Amino acid sequence: MTVPPITATAPAKLILCGEHAVVYGCPAIALPLADLRATATVTPQVAGHGCRIIAPDIGAAWLLTARPNDALTIVVQVTLHAAGVPASPPPDIAITVTSEIPQAAGMGSGAAVATAVVRAVAAWCGWHPDAASIAALVYQSEQQLHGTPSGIDNTVVAYEQPIWFERRDSTPLVEPLTLAVPLRFLVGDTGGRSATYRPVGAVRSGWQRDPATYAARFAAVADIVRAARAALLVGDVVRLGGLLNDNQRVLHALGVSSPELDRLTLAAVQAGAHGAKLSGGGWGGVMLALVSDDAQAMQVAAALRAAGAPHVWDTTTGTAATGAI
Ligand code: MEV
Repeated sequence: MTVPPITATAPAKLILCGEHAVVYGCPAIALPLADLRATATVTPQVAGHGCRIIAPDIGAAWLLTARPNDALTIVVQVTLHAAGVPASPPPDIAITVTSEIPQAAGMGSGAAVATAVVRAVAAWCGWHPDAASIAALVYQSEQQLHGTPSGIDNTVVAYEQPIWFERRDSTPLVEPLTLAVPLRFLVGDTGGRSATYRPVGAVRSGWQRDPATYAARFAAVADIVRAARAALLVGDVVRLGGLLNDNQRVLHALGVSSPELDRLTLAAVQAGAHGAKLSGGGWGGVMLALVSDDAQAMQVAAALRAAGAPHVWDTTTGTAATGAI
């Protein structure tokens, strides 16, 4: 009998507010980007083939045994282990991964690819883990990529819904959030790329040098995130926009913005966005701008492009509508 291939997908993400401070135990809010996705397909192979990961986007293919420390190798192995399938000898499967999500842009590309792999490999094993179990497996590959991840990226990608997240010693606090109104964002790409561990490391160095100043900044972010949750729950987008601007000011003080991010956030606010901030690790990658209606969205998108954004996405949470425009 021929076993058919098994395909699974996972979304990109945006951090609405609270990035960086979340690494130090402060709350943060994250959103899935439903229709920018990573895909993994498990295809059974002939006996003796071994377990191979194929990543055509980056022109790479490898046997698990050849790259034991690769983040995707690790995620396959921990998934097989959790599903009760021996990793040695490895199963005879090819796992093909592709992604529409720009890498190192603050959109959770690594977490999305790993989540798609966990879902596909688990399904191939006949196992259908819940979101918390998937997030815990992907966290192990995030640790390989980022060193000290808070766990927010793998969690929002696995839950695929807006979440309130707090890092804890053992199990994080995760609360799915129901938005009072759909939120519409223009997501502007600076075109710059920076692996998350770099700005995270810079914040850690700053915090070690001057713990009092950094603790005050993290506390300011925590206040902003709590106020943002209250605004979300009543659908007050004007208040939320102001809080995003406040968050951007603290992120700038933390040293994780960049001239391009500053330019795009300023352009968005000057064009009429309710608020704008970088999203994710910073030092490049993407920013988000909160808007309400089509006229505002068109003006902000045009301003972002004029300020140098090579890509602008128009996305609404609560509906599956993300389009490159
Ligand atoms: C990255 O999406 C969010 C950061 O706070 C890092 C982390 O939480 O692990 C910058």
